[in-house]
Amino acid sequence: MAREHVVARTSDIPEGSHRIVRVGQREIGVFNMGGSWHAIPNLCPHQRGPLCEGATSGTVDYGPHTDWKLDWIHEGEIVTCPWHALEWHVPSGRCLAFPDIRLRKFPTRVDGDEVRVTL
Ligand code: FES
Repeated sequence: MAREHVVARTSDIPEGSHRIVRVGQREIGVFNMGGSWHAIPNLCPHQRGPLCEGATSGTVDYGPHTDWKLDWIHEGEIVTCPWHALEWHVPSGRCLAFPDIRLRKFPTRVDGDEVRVTL
């Protein structure tokens, strides 16, 4: 049964940063993206690497929709797995290289100064 857990104080995770927390047997990456909060497993679906130990950034977009010009998108919303560099869009959970693969996302909310994650 899903249960809500207090995983951090808002001051523990300043805007633009993330932190790995443990809830029971699970490690969860909790991200503060411009006041929008997200929680994903610290487990990359590729080969089970520690996904949330990776850096956050944006990514390059390129194709007919950019008129074949390089475009920088999703600044601060991409976490790159430290093992083999797959990029993941945290707000959607989508893998950029394999868009059909998505991370599980855990409902996250702030109550006062508490960051709460349901899993
Ligand atoms: S384990 Fe994450 S990219 Fe391979």
